[in-house]
Amino acid sequence: MKGVVLAGGLGSRLEPLTRITNKHLLPIYNRPMIYYPIQTLVDAGITEIMIVTGGNNAGDFLRLLGNGEEFGLKHLNYTYQRGEGGIAAALRLAEHFSEGDRVVVMLGDNLLEDNIRPFVERFAQQPKGARILLKEVEDPERFGVAEVRDGRVLSIEEKPRQPKSSFAVTGIYMYDPRVFEIIRTLRPSGRGELEITDVNNAYLRTGDLAYDVLSGWWTDAGLPETLYRATTLVREREAKRPHPARHVVSA
Ligand code: G1P
Repeated sequence: MKGVVLAGGLGSRLEPLTRITNKHLLPIYNRPMIYYPIQTLVDAGITEIMIVTGGNNAGDFLRLLGNGEEFGLKHLNYTYQRGEGGIAAALRLAEHFSEGDRVVVMLGDNLLEDNIRPFVERFAQQPKGARILLKEVEDPERFGVAEVRDGRVLSIEEKPRQPKSSFAVTGIYMYDPRVFEIIRTLRPSGRGELEITDVNNAYLRTGDLAYDVLSGWWTDAGLPETLYRATTLVREREAKRPHPARHVVSA
């Protein structure tokens, strides 16, 4: 199983914070945003990870993360996305890296409390297809929304005006190698992007889409309000954790 973190895009919803840097390098409490999805993948037991980035600050990722030593990794892979083509277009750049293996894809601005290892293990048991993670939210219209019944996904709509449920499709996706064939068939959406929701609906049409529901907190950090929320959630989590450094009295 390989891991892909998508960290491109212009982050225009965070202007002017993103005018001179990449969204995924902004701080969430005590770490740059990109640290959190990488840690989530590492905690799930994934050691081969590719970062897809873009824009003017791509070199900063290399300087910041190096070979991923801080995460206990031996190596990190990087690729560069020209322009903004949407999540599915960014994922397409990881085809070469995936080498026919399965991939766990994580949006670089998503943070969550749960360890996703059990879900990744369930995906590994799946003979084929895709697996998505859902979370009940109060503002589903901001996300991809899954209608679920009797343990099955019936439909997914991208940012619907009238959501059919309160289940947001989180930015953590698990795919078999067919994902790259599907991406080749996609056409740009109304907002001019290759949508990850269209990828998930392609799996849905062939009955190959499984899901789990997250119980812990989950948030994106792509808006001023959610960037702040992410910082607050991480800060609360850190406060609960035993933290030897805090008790050290410096000279
Ligand atoms: C993207 C996806 C959406 C998903 C969300 C999760 O939205 O298109 O389906 O629910 O990420 O963060 P975007 O960040 O492009 O608005």
